[in-house]
Amino acid sequence: MSTTVPFVDLKTQFSALRAEIVPRVIEVMEQASFILGPDVSRFEENFASYCGARHCIGVESGTAALQLALEALEIGSGDEVIIPANTYIASAIAVSAVGARPVLVDADRTYLIDCTRLDEALTPRTKAVMPVHLYGQAVPMDAIVEFARRHGLYVIEDASQAHGARWEGRRVGSFGDAGCFSFYPGKNLGAYGDGGAIVTNDAAMAERLRLLRDFGQRKKYLHVVKAGNCRLDSIQAAILDVKLGHLDAWNEARRRHAAAYDARLATIGIEPPARLHEEGHVYHLYVIEVEQRERVISALRERGVATGIHYPIPIHMQPAYSELAGSRGAFPQTERSAGRVLSLPMFAELTEEQIEYVVDALARSQRLVTA
Ligand SMILES: Cc1ncc(COP(=O)(O)O)c(C=O)c1O
Repeated sequence: MSTTVPFVDLKTQFSALRAEIVPRVIEVMEQASFILGPDVSRFEENFASYCGARHCIGVESGTAALQLALEALEIGSGDEVIIPANTYIASAIAVSAVGARPVLVDADRTYLIDCTRLDEALTPRTKAVMPVHLYGQAVPMDAIVEFARRHGLYVIEDASQAHGARWEGRRVGSFGDAGCFSFYPGKNLGAYGDGGAIVTNDAAMAERLRLLRDFGQRKKYLHVVKAGNCRLDSIQAAILDVKLGHLDAWNEARRRHAAAYDARLATIGIEPPARLHEEGHVYHLYVIEVEQRERVISALRERGVATGIHYPIPIHMQPAYSELAGSRGAFPQTERSAGRVLSLPMFAELTEEQIEYVVDALARSQRLVTA
């Protein structure tokens, strides 16, 4: 059966944006300004100001953003970085890539890093804490910043799933030493390919990041540090700049869809996602918990509803992190939710009818599961 409700609908979004995006892409090609240049600078300025930060450095992906932020803070071999146990693998990979060790902290019931357990992860080697604003929900940044100040740690925010989200009125990304973003196509602000950015209020940090993303060049062919190529393409920057103008409206639409899901799920006895707060959430993902997940997924699939799982295997249970296998059982909340979470379709263009259809299909799947 063809999909009635996709998980994310980038085709519908492009139809609405075609008239704005195509001329900007053609302009980049006509000007043959493909690498860095005015489109990248313009997007960087606009995105910094959107986030309430002084500087923005466009890079090739969210993973590169995290890795470069760690490198710019000179975090490497022998160092430890605190990350959530419940996150995408990129959080751990970026730390490993610079030679440091990721130290995991369990989630609380809202799926975010449990700020009451940060102390347990602290050792004399801890250099930074890297909270992840997961599913579009801001981590309580006052708790993170206070913990980091108390122990002399850097804060690197991973806002890859939370473009425009707020904590106490302030946009995420601007609280720490660096705020990292992915512009992977399905994100709230997504490119038409890979992309990422780092925002910071620190001019020296911004300068280091500009060197690190572009062969350590201070000027053409003068290389002052050993670094590779992690630049953001001009075409992607031009596309992102157009899309940035729509981000608040899209996030508002996501909030309306979440409220509609909340209300409808209540009528079929499914708990809405546990949230710390409503205000400022940008619902990159709308994540519920279900029993017998595989049966529910296949029942939904049969009715043409696509779903996702974020994430089915926690980092410490991944083959790539076999060195963390000994900590199995140490992150009960993360391990429990990994077996139960189910992400429902969520994107700005979702319609009332689609939401109704998803919840109806879910209600039928529940009857099957309990039968
Ligand atoms: C929380 C988080 N961090 C980092 C990344 C990595 O971003 P990218 O795929 O752009 O490298 C992603 C997404 O894919 C993410 O969701």
